[in-house]
Amino acid sequence: MRKPYDVLFDGVFSKIDPEKAHEQAFAAIRAGRFATAAWGRTLKPRPVSALGLEFPNVLGLAAGFDKNAVGIDALAGLGFGHIEIGTVTGEAQPGNPKPRLFRLLDDRAVVNRMGFNNDGAEVVGRRLAARAAARKGKSGPVVGVNIGKTKVVPDDDIAAVIKDHEKSVDHLAPYADYLVVNVSSPNTPGLRNLQAVEKLSPLLEAVRRRADEVVTDRRVPLVVKIAPDLADDDVLAVADMAKAIGLDGITATNTTISREGLRSPSARVAEIGAGGLSGRPLTERSLEVLRLLKGRVGDDLTLIGVGGITTVADAKARLDAGADLLQGYTAFIYEGPLWPRAIVRGVSRTR
Ligand SMILES: Cc1cc2nc3c(=O)[nH]c(=O)nc-3n(C[C@H](O)[C@H](O)[C@H](O)COP(=O)(O)O)c2cc1C
Repeated sequence: MRKPYDVLFDGVFSKIDPEKAHEQAFAAIRAGRFATAAWGRTLKPRPVSALGLEFPNVLGLAAGFDKNAVGIDALAGLGFGHIEIGTVTGEAQPGNPKPRLFRLLDDRAVVNRMGFNNDGAEVVGRRLAARAAARKGKSGPVVGVNIGKTKVVPDDDIAAVIKDHEKSVDHLAPYADYLVVNVSSPNTPGLRNLQAVEKLSPLLEAVRRRADEVVTDRRVPLVVKIAPDLADDDVLAVADMAKAIGLDGITATNTTISREGLRSPSARVAEIGAGGLSGRPLTERSLEVLRLLKGRVGDDLTLIGVGGITTVADAKARLDAGADLLQGYTAFIYEGPLWPRAIVRGVSRTR
Protein backbone atom coordinates (compact mmCIF):
# COMPACT_ATOMS: atom_id res chain seq x y z
CA MET A 1 0.00 0.00 0.00
CA ARG A 2 1.24 3.51 -0.76
CA LYS A 3 2.08 5.79 2.13
CA PRO A 4 -0.37 8.68 2.68
CA TYR A 5 2.48 11.12 1.99
CA ASP A 6 3.14 9.52 -1.41
CA VAL A 7 -0.51 10.06 -2.34
CA LEU A 8 -0.32 13.66 -1.14
CA PHE A 9 2.99 14.26 -2.92
CA ASP A 10 1.88 12.78 -6.25
CA GLY A 11 -1.62 14.26 -6.13
CA VAL A 12 -0.92 17.70 -4.69
CA PHE A 13 2.67 18.80 -4.05
CA SER A 14 4.12 17.56 -7.34
CA LYS A 15 1.52 19.59 -9.23
CA ILE A 16 2.27 22.94 -7.63
CA ASP A 17 5.31 25.14 -8.11
CA PRO A 18 8.15 23.61 -6.03
CA GLU A 19 9.01 26.82 -4.19
CA LYS A 20 5.33 27.40 -3.29
CA ALA A 21 5.09 23.76 -2.18
CA HIS A 22 8.13 24.29 0.04
CA GLU A 23 6.60 27.42 1.58
CA GLN A 24 3.26 25.71 2.21
CA ALA A 25 4.79 22.55 3.63
CA PHE A 26 7.13 24.55 5.88
CA ALA A 27 4.23 26.75 7.04
CA ALA A 28 2.26 23.60 7.92
CA ILE A 29 5.22 22.17 9.86
CA ARG A 30 5.55 25.44 11.79
CA ALA A 31 1.80 25.63 12.47
CA GLY A 32 1.93 22.13 13.92
CA ARG A 33 4.95 22.82 16.10
CA PHE A 34 3.26 22.07 19.43
CA ALA A 35 2.01 18.73 18.16
CA THR A 36 5.34 17.84 16.59
CA ALA A 37 7.20 18.89 19.75
CA ALA A 38 5.09 16.46 21.79
CA TRP A 39 5.52 13.79 19.14
CA GLY A 40 9.24 14.51 18.99
CA ARG A 41 9.54 13.66 22.67
CA THR A 42 8.34 10.13 21.87
CA LEU A 43 11.45 9.55 19.77
CA LYS A 44 14.06 7.95 21.99
CA PRO A 45 17.25 10.01 22.12
CA ARG A 46 20.20 8.24 20.56
CA PRO A 47 22.98 10.63 21.46
CA VAL A 48 26.01 11.07 19.28
CA SER A 49 29.17 12.92 20.33
CA ALA A 50 30.73 14.99 17.57
CA LEU A 51 32.37 18.41 17.22
CA GLY A 52 32.74 18.36 21.00
CA LEU A 53 28.95 18.52 21.31
CA GLU A 54 26.25 16.03 22.17
CA PHE A 55 23.75 15.60 19.32
CA PRO A 56 20.34 14.05 20.18
CA ASN A 57 20.77 11.69 17.23
CA VAL A 58 22.86 11.24 14.12
CA LEU A 59 20.59 12.89 11.52
CA GLY A 60 20.29 16.59 10.78
CA LEU A 61 18.38 18.74 8.33
CA ALA A 62 20.84 20.08 5.76
CA ALA A 63 21.27 23.79 5.09
CA GLY A 64 18.87 25.54 2.74
CA PHE A 65 15.54 24.33 4.12
CA ASP A 66 15.36 26.79 7.01
CA LYS A 67 17.52 29.57 5.59
CA ASN A 68 16.22 32.19 8.02
CA ALA A 69 15.91 30.24 11.28
CA VAL A 70 12.14 30.47 11.43
CA GLY A 71 11.27 26.83 12.17
CA ILE A 72 14.10 25.20 14.11
CA ASP A 73 12.03 23.63 16.88
CA ALA A 74 9.15 22.54 14.66
CA LEU A 75 11.60 20.77 12.36
CA ALA A 76 13.37 19.15 15.30
CA GLY A 77 9.98 17.77 16.39
CA LEU A 78 9.96 15.66 13.24
CA GLY A 79 13.03 13.83 14.47
CA PHE A 80 16.06 15.78 13.27
CA GLY A 81 18.75 15.91 15.93
CA HIS A 82 20.29 19.00 14.44
CA ILE A 83 19.11 21.75 12.17
CA GLU A 84 21.60 23.63 10.02
CA ILE A 85 20.14 27.04 9.28
CA GLY A 86 21.25 29.23 6.38
CA THR A 87 23.07 29.83 4.22
CA VAL A 88 23.01 33.28 5.81
CA THR A 89 25.01 36.04 4.13
CA GLY A 90 26.47 39.22 5.61
CA GLU A 91 23.84 41.32 3.82
CA ALA A 92 20.20 40.43 3.16
CA GLN A 93 19.57 39.52 -0.47
CA PRO A 94 16.62 38.36 -2.62
CA GLY A 95 18.35 35.48 -4.41
CA ASN A 96 17.90 34.67 -8.09
CA PRO A 97 14.77 35.39 -10.14
CA LYS A 98 11.98 32.79 -9.95
CA PRO A 99 11.46 30.05 -10.97
CA ARG A 100 14.60 28.77 -9.29
CA LEU A 101 13.59 25.41 -7.83
CA PHE A 102 12.69 22.40 -10.00
CA ARG A 103 11.85 18.74 -9.48
CA LEU A 104 13.15 15.85 -11.53
CA LEU A 105 10.59 13.29 -10.43
CA ASP A 106 12.05 10.38 -12.42
CA ASP A 107 15.35 10.89 -10.60
CA ARG A 108 13.96 11.67 -7.13
CA ALA A 109 16.08 14.79 -7.50
CA VAL A 110 15.82 18.55 -7.28
CA VAL A 111 17.63 21.30 -9.15
CA ASN A 112 17.91 24.63 -7.36
CA ARG A 113 19.46 27.97 -8.17
CA MET A 114 18.01 29.83 -5.19
CA GLY A 115 21.13 32.01 -4.89
CA PHE A 116 21.22 32.45 -1.09
CA ASN A 117 17.90 34.26 -0.70
CA ASN A 118 17.94 35.20 2.99
CA ASP A 119 17.23 37.91 5.54
CA GLY A 120 20.91 38.64 6.24
CA ALA A 121 23.06 38.07 9.33
CA GLU A 122 21.68 40.90 11.44
CA VAL A 123 18.01 39.91 11.17
CA VAL A 124 18.69 36.18 11.52
CA GLY A 125 20.92 36.92 14.52
CA ARG A 126 18.08 38.80 16.22
CA ARG A 127 15.74 35.89 15.50
CA LEU A 128 18.17 33.41 17.06
CA ALA A 129 18.61 35.70 20.07
CA ALA A 130 14.83 35.80 20.58
CA ARG A 131 14.64 32.01 20.35
CA ALA A 132 17.46 31.61 22.87
CA ALA A 133 15.76 34.02 25.28
CA ALA A 134 12.40 32.24 24.94
CA ARG A 135 13.90 28.79 25.51
CA LYS A 136 15.93 29.82 28.57
CA GLY A 137 18.44 26.99 28.23
CA LYS A 138 15.84 24.25 27.57
CA SER A 139 17.36 21.29 25.77
CA GLY A 140 16.68 20.98 22.08
CA PRO A 141 18.30 20.28 18.76
CA VAL A 142 21.86 21.26 17.99
CA VAL A 143 21.75 24.39 15.83
CA GLY A 144 24.36 24.74 13.11
CA VAL A 145 24.73 28.10 11.40
CA ASN A 146 25.83 27.99 7.78
CA ILE A 147 27.31 31.24 6.43
CA GLY A 148 28.33 32.29 2.94
CA LYS A 149 29.37 35.19 0.76
CA THR A 150 26.99 38.01 -0.12
CA LYS A 151 26.54 38.03 -3.91
CA VAL A 152 27.75 41.60 -4.52
CA VAL A 153 31.04 41.01 -2.73
CA PRO A 154 33.64 40.09 -5.41
CA ASP A 155 35.13 36.64 -4.82
CA ASP A 156 38.61 37.81 -5.94
CA ASP A 157 38.76 40.49 -3.23
CA ILE A 158 39.63 38.23 -0.34
CA ALA A 159 39.77 41.11 2.17
CA ALA A 160 36.18 42.03 1.28
CA VAL A 161 35.11 38.38 1.41
CA ILE A 162 36.61 38.07 4.89
CA LYS A 163 34.91 41.26 6.07
CA ASP A 164 31.56 39.99 4.80
CA HIS A 165 32.00 36.69 6.66
CA GLU A 166 33.14 38.51 9.81
CA LYS A 167 29.88 40.42 9.83
CA SER A 168 28.00 37.12 9.80
CA VAL A 169 30.20 35.75 12.58
CA ASP A 170 29.57 38.84 14.71
CA HIS A 171 25.81 38.45 14.50
CA LEU A 172 25.48 34.68 14.42
CA ALA A 173 28.34 32.95 16.24
CA PRO A 174 26.90 33.66 19.71
CA TYR A 175 23.88 31.48 18.82
CA ALA A 176 25.67 28.85 16.77
CA ASP A 177 26.39 25.46 18.33
CA TYR A 178 28.66 25.08 15.32
CA LEU A 179 29.50 27.24 12.32
CA VAL A 180 29.80 26.14 8.69
CA VAL A 181 31.47 28.13 5.95
CA ASN A 182 29.76 27.29 2.68
CA VAL A 183 32.07 27.75 -0.29
CA SER A 184 30.36 25.13 -2.42
CA SER A 185 27.04 26.47 -3.66
CA PRO A 186 27.01 26.66 -7.47
CA ASN A 187 24.49 29.51 -7.43
CA THR A 188 26.61 32.47 -6.35
CA PRO A 189 28.93 33.36 -9.23
CA GLY A 190 32.57 32.70 -8.30
CA LEU A 191 31.77 31.32 -4.84
CA ARG A 192 33.27 27.92 -5.52
CA ASN A 193 36.59 29.56 -6.45
CA LEU A 194 36.95 30.08 -2.70
CA GLN A 195 37.51 26.33 -2.38
CA ALA A 196 41.03 26.77 -3.71
CA VAL A 197 43.16 26.32 -0.59
CA GLU A 198 45.13 29.54 -1.06
CA LYS A 199 41.87 31.47 -0.68
CA LEU A 200 40.07 29.08 1.63
CA SER A 201 42.79 28.91 4.23
CA PRO A 202 42.95 32.69 5.01
CA LEU A 203 39.14 32.89 4.95
CA LEU A 204 38.69 30.04 7.43
CA GLU A 205 41.49 31.32 9.65
CA ALA A 206 39.83 34.72 9.75
CA VAL A 207 36.45 33.19 10.61
CA ARG A 208 38.11 31.11 13.36
CA ARG A 209 39.81 34.20 14.82
CA ARG A 210 36.66 36.27 14.73
CA ALA A 211 34.54 33.52 16.30
CA ASP A 212 37.05 33.30 19.16
CA GLU A 213 36.85 37.08 19.66
CA VAL A 214 33.05 37.17 19.62
CA VAL A 215 32.38 34.06 21.72
CA THR A 216 34.74 33.81 24.67
CA ASP A 217 32.97 31.36 26.98
CA ARG A 218 33.27 28.33 24.64
CA ARG A 219 34.96 27.35 21.40
CA VAL A 220 32.51 27.40 18.49
CA PRO A 221 33.35 24.42 16.25
CA LEU A 222 34.09 25.39 12.65
CA VAL A 223 33.29 23.27 9.61
CA VAL A 224 33.71 23.79 5.86
CA LYS A 225 31.20 22.47 3.32
CA ILE A 226 32.58 21.29 -0.01
CA ALA A 227 31.24 20.47 -3.47
CA PRO A 228 31.07 16.98 -4.97
CA ASP A 229 32.49 18.41 -8.18
CA LEU A 230 35.98 18.99 -6.76
CA ALA A 231 38.61 16.76 -8.35
CA ASP A 232 39.79 14.05 -5.96
CA ASP A 233 43.15 15.79 -5.50
CA ASP A 234 41.39 19.00 -4.52
CA VAL A 235 39.26 17.12 -1.97
CA LEU A 236 42.48 15.82 -0.43
CA ALA A 237 44.05 19.29 -0.51
CA VAL A 238 41.07 20.68 1.42
CA ALA A 239 41.39 17.80 3.90
CA ASP A 240 45.08 18.57 4.49
CA MET A 241 44.41 22.27 4.86
CA ALA A 242 41.53 21.64 7.28
CA LYS A 243 43.84 19.61 9.50
CA ALA A 244 46.66 22.11 9.21
CA ILE A 245 44.59 25.08 10.36
CA GLY A 246 42.73 23.21 13.09
CA LEU A 247 39.27 23.06 11.57
CA ASP A 248 36.78 20.85 13.39
CA GLY A 249 35.05 19.20 10.49
CA ILE A 250 34.12 18.93 6.84
CA THR A 251 30.65 18.55 5.33
CA ALA A 252 30.55 16.45 2.18
CA THR A 253 28.73 17.40 0.04
CA ASN A 254 26.77 20.27 -1.42
CA THR A 255 24.79 19.92 -4.67
CA THR A 256 26.41 19.05 -8.02
CA ILE A 257 26.51 20.88 -11.33
CA SER A 258 26.82 17.49 -13.11
CA ARG A 259 23.83 16.17 -15.05
CA GLU A 260 25.33 12.78 -15.82
CA GLY A 261 23.35 9.57 -15.61
CA LEU A 262 19.91 11.12 -15.18
CA ARG A 263 16.73 9.26 -16.13
CA SER A 264 14.72 12.40 -16.76
CA PRO A 265 14.34 13.40 -20.43
CA SER A 266 17.34 15.48 -21.49
CA ALA A 267 15.05 18.15 -22.98
CA ARG A 268 13.49 18.65 -19.54
CA VAL A 269 16.90 18.80 -17.90
CA ALA A 270 18.09 21.36 -20.49
CA GLU A 271 14.92 23.43 -20.09
CA ILE A 272 15.52 23.74 -16.34
CA GLY A 273 19.00 25.12 -16.92
CA ALA A 274 21.71 25.95 -14.39
CA GLY A 275 21.63 25.03 -10.73
CA GLY A 276 22.73 22.51 -8.15
CA LEU A 277 21.37 18.99 -8.42
CA SER A 278 20.53 17.12 -5.21
CA GLY A 279 18.91 13.84 -4.22
CA ARG A 280 19.28 10.34 -5.58
CA PRO A 281 21.78 11.01 -8.41
CA LEU A 282 24.19 12.52 -5.88
CA THR A 283 24.40 9.51 -3.56
CA GLU A 284 27.38 7.79 -5.12
CA ARG A 285 29.70 10.79 -5.55
CA SER A 286 28.94 12.18 -2.07
CA LEU A 287 29.80 8.80 -0.58
CA GLU A 288 32.99 8.69 -2.64
CA VAL A 289 34.07 12.14 -1.45
CA LEU A 290 33.38 11.10 2.14
CA ARG A 291 35.55 8.00 1.69
CA LEU A 292 38.38 10.11 0.28
CA LEU A 293 38.16 12.45 3.24
CA LYS A 294 38.04 9.65 5.80
CA GLY A 295 41.09 8.04 4.21
CA ARG A 296 42.97 11.30 4.57
CA VAL A 297 41.89 12.68 7.95
CA GLY A 298 41.05 9.48 9.84
CA ASP A 299 39.50 10.36 13.19
CA ASP A 300 41.10 13.79 13.38
CA LEU A 301 38.09 15.69 12.03
CA THR A 302 34.33 15.33 12.25
CA LEU A 303 32.85 14.31 8.92
CA ILE A 304 29.26 15.20 8.06
CA GLY A 305 27.85 13.05 5.27
CA VAL A 306 25.16 14.57 3.06
CA GLY A 307 24.01 14.13 -0.51
CA GLY A 308 21.35 11.75 -1.73
CA ILE A 309 20.83 9.90 1.54
CA THR A 310 17.38 8.40 1.07
CA THR A 311 17.12 4.96 2.66
CA VAL A 312 18.32 3.43 5.91
CA ALA A 313 20.85 1.50 3.81
CA ASP A 314 22.19 4.79 2.38
CA ALA A 315 22.52 6.20 5.88
CA LYS A 316 24.33 3.10 7.12
CA ALA A 317 26.68 3.13 4.13
CA ARG A 318 27.60 6.72 4.95
CA LEU A 319 28.27 5.82 8.59
CA ASP A 320 30.28 2.78 7.55
CA ALA A 321 32.35 5.04 5.31
CA GLY A 322 33.26 7.17 8.30
CA ALA A 323 30.60 9.84 8.67
CA ASP A 324 30.10 11.00 12.26
CA LEU A 325 26.87 12.81 11.43
CA LEU A 326 24.39 12.67 8.56
CA GLN A 327 22.20 15.25 6.90
CA GLY A 328 19.48 15.22 4.28
CA TYR A 329 17.24 17.60 2.44
CA THR A 330 15.90 16.21 -0.87
CA ALA A 331 14.74 12.88 0.57
CA PHE A 332 12.76 14.85 3.16
CA ILE A 333 10.87 16.47 0.25
CA TYR A 334 10.18 13.17 -1.51
CA GLU A 335 9.66 10.90 1.50
CA GLY A 336 7.81 13.32 3.77
CA PRO A 337 7.61 14.19 7.47
CA LEU A 338 8.07 10.62 8.71
CA TRP A 339 11.42 10.32 6.93
CA PRO A 340 13.74 11.61 9.67
CA ARG A 341 12.29 9.27 12.30
CA ALA A 342 12.50 6.30 9.96
CA ILE A 343 16.18 6.97 9.30
CA VAL A 344 17.07 7.60 12.94
CA ARG A 345 15.27 4.44 14.09
CA GLY A 346 16.51 2.33 11.20
CA VAL A 347 20.11 3.27 11.72
CA SER A 348 20.09 2.72 15.46
CA ARG A 349 18.39 -0.67 15.19
CA THR A 350 21.54 -2.22 13.82
CA ARG A 351 24.17 -0.15 15.60
C1 LIG B 1 16.42 23.94 -2.42
C2 LIG B 1 17.78 23.74 -1.84
C3 LIG B 1 18.44 24.80 -1.25
C4 LIG B 1 19.70 24.62 -0.69
N1 LIG B 1 20.32 25.67 -0.09
C5 LIG B 1 21.52 25.49 0.51
C6 LIG B 1 22.15 26.55 1.20
O1 LIG B 1 21.62 27.66 1.30
N2 LIG B 1 23.37 26.31 1.76
C7 LIG B 1 23.98 25.08 1.70
O2 LIG B 1 25.07 24.92 2.25
N3 LIG B 1 23.39 24.05 1.06
C8 LIG B 1 22.18 24.24 0.47
N4 LIG B 1 21.59 23.18 -0.16
C9 LIG B 1 22.31 21.89 -0.27
C10 LIG B 1 21.91 20.91 0.82
O3 LIG B 1 22.22 21.40 2.09
C11 LIG B 1 22.62 19.55 0.60
O4 LIG B 1 24.01 19.73 0.77
C12 LIG B 1 22.35 18.98 -0.77
O5 LIG B 1 21.03 19.20 -1.18
C13 LIG B 1 22.63 17.47 -0.83
O6 LIG B 1 21.81 16.77 0.07
P1 LIG B 1 20.42 16.05 -0.37
O7 LIG B 1 20.71 15.24 -1.58
O8 LIG B 1 20.01 15.26 0.83
O9 LIG B 1 19.46 17.16 -0.67
C14 LIG B 1 20.32 23.35 -0.74
C15 LIG B 1 19.64 22.27 -1.32
C16 LIG B 1 18.39 22.44 -1.86
C17 LIG B 1 17.68 21.26 -2.47
